Amino acid sequence: MNVLIKKEALSQKVSEIGKQINDDYKNKNPILVGVLKGAFVFLADLLREIEVPIEIDFLSISSYNGKKSSGVVRLTNDLSLNIENRDVILIEDIVDTGRTISYIINNLKTRKPRSLVVCTLLNKKDDRIVEVPLTYIGFDVPSVFVVGYGLDYLNKYRNLKYIGVINGK
Ligand code: IMP
Repeated sequence: MNVLIKKEALSQKVSEIGKQINDDYKNKNPILVGVLKGAFVFLADLLREIEVPIEIDFLSISSYNGKKSSGVVRLTNDLSLNIENRDVILIEDIVDTGRTISYIINNLKTRKPRSLVVCTLLNKKDDRIVEVPLTYIGFDVPSVFVVGYGLDYLNKYRNLKYIGVINGK
């Protein structure tokens, strides 16, 4: 496994993003929506850097089989909170083609949130097919398959403390 982003760099960045959110959401009470499964580690670390009152919720999406995106996105578990008139921050692990997050944005917009922004830990911008506005970005990464810190390959490697690239993959 080659380490692409070390755990110290991850925690430094997560704390910077937390500070930005604290500034941007002063006197607000946003809902952080984690996209499962990949975003759960990032969300768990990020929310402890946030000092404004927050609520959290999750949704699950399926679209990937191993390393290939099928391109067909499906909501497999919906939110439990009502987001109408709420400030929503969508928390993603990685935005690649942009298909997943754009599907989620379109779906959530129909529920009339007051505001809806995306916070992604990783951004594979060279692979983008659908343009999506990203308000908070942790790191731009090259067009390679990455794992760790919540991200998987065939459901493995989510427990790594760092972001890595599997040798020979
Ligand atoms: P998109 O729809 O192509 O933007 O893909 C987004 C989703 O694909 C992410 O939420 C991840 O679950 C998965 N994904 C994309 N690239 C990678 C990667 O390099 N490693 C692990 N998962 C990835």
